[in-house]
Amino acid sequence: MENLNPKRDGFTSKFGIIAAAAGSAIGLGNIWKFPYIVGINGGAAFILIYLVCIALIGAPVMLSEFLIGRRAQKNAVGSFKKLAPNTPWFLTGWMGLGAAFMILSFYGVVAGWTFFYVVKMIFGAFKDMSPDAIGGMFGNFISGTNDAGTFGEWWHPIMYQVAFMALTAGVILGGVKNGIEKYSKILMPMLLVIIIILDIKAISLKGSSAGVEFLFKPEWGALKLSSVLDALGHAFFSLSLGMGTMITYGSYIGKKENLGVTSIQVTIADTLIALLAGLAIFPAVFAFGIEPGVGPGLVFVTLPNVFNAMGNIGQLFGIMFFVLLAVAALTSSISILEVVVAYLSEEMNLDRKKATIISTIIITFMGILCSLSLGPFTQTFPILELSEAEGFARFFTQYGFFDALDKISANFLLPIGGLMISVFVGWKMKNEDVKEELSNNGVLRIGYFVVFDFLCKFVAPLGIIFVFLYNLGVVKAVFTFFGWEI
Ligand code: PHE
Repeated sequence: MENLNPKRDGFTSKFGIIAAAAGSAIGLGNIWKFPYIVGINGGAAFILIYLVCIALIGAPVMLSEFLIGRRAQKNAVGSFKKLAPNTPWFLTGWMGLGAAFMILSFYGVVAGWTFFYVVKMIFGAFKDMSPDAIGGMFGNFISGTNDAGTFGEWWHPIMYQVAFMALTAGVILGGVKNGIEKYSKILMPMLLVIIIILDIKAISLKGSSAGVEFLFKPEWGALKLSSVLDALGHAFFSLSLGMGTMITYGSYIGKKENLGVTSIQVTIADTLIALLAGLAIFPAVFAFGIEPGVGPGLVFVTLPNVFNAMGNIGQLFGIMFFVLLAVAALTSSISILEVVVAYLSEEMNLDRKKATIISTIIITFMGILCSLSLGPFTQTFPILELSEAEGFARFFTQYGFFDALDKISANFLLPIGGLMISVFVGWKMKNEDVKEELSNNGVLRIGYFVVFDFLCKFVAPLGIIFVFLYNLGVVKAVFTFFGWEI
């Protein structure tokens, strides 16, 4: 292993790096969040915008993060301090830390739901249940508001969330090599295989073709102003970008690795899994008459029906699917916690063990509030977004704590972080440093540098700014002013 700094833990093999970075990217974002926001935003047109965001903004920002991390050999905050000393750039890292706390809070709650589904699957609880009954059970479980008392305790989802957070902390305490790498290597390819089997089953269901159309035939009229920001925000969320995860992981990557190839491989793998997950969900959504825009419960209320339709082996598949989904969530959650732990241990001189325990306790507590916000504790928060209301209120939409953390982090903190990161690499970092990180065995193809530099300097930052203006209706107002159609 050619790690520059012998004191730092690092990845041991090429496949290990890709597996760990892909393990971070592939998670609940692909299988839980992607289908449900595609459903809310009307299908194919949203997916096309998402793909443009991934290609033009996501991929260059991922390479930028790897490059910053490997150059600096430090965590998300320390990297900026080292590469741009005595400047405010380190605030980008701090914002990333904030995003990490927020994301892991609600992420742990949803990961807890997957644990619950593993248990339900093992006991065959969904057998003979109608799609409606499955939806009802899920709603009762996450909100803890069931009269019948079976799944209706408020602490029920919290118990699973706490178990998941404990597991995340446990893996982080095992260290980078032993923890992250070992788990990612075998299980991610297995998840891919199961999803492909589910695709085949879902497409062969009666009435599924409307779902395939929903995914591939764009209806531009279905797009809302907020859809474009949802697409951009999700591109960042899904690729684990904008908060320093890939900076932190980049710092563990050896000097000989080709960062460009790794970024592209991870980006493609992540996008492929999301699309395949969509293809497993939407045909089934239409076949079983589920409403595509139901929101965060979509995957949880749809897939048990597919397993039911598979006959006897459905239960086994269901168990395997939710176990692997929980593992995919774990390889992502450890990458979020690692951002915080790497910062606390390197910059604040806490030992890794203390850093892990303290941050896990805070995040778990915030997660409990997220979980409660879905049931007994329904306080709402206004988030900057064009809403139906009149006047000043028009710029705000109300969200509960769970959704508020999701919106603030994915739709604001991550894209702003991504903006800073691309500007940092495009305009602030020394050209020679960037070129050296991009070279492989001392060779740098000039076309590669020119394209990447152009993406970082102009395309990514201006694209992100455009999306914010679009979300606020500014773009629309300008178009209307000139009498153009949009
Ligand atoms: N990309 C992860 C997923 O799709 C979530 C994540 C977001 C991980 C941000 C790290 C940083 O599930």
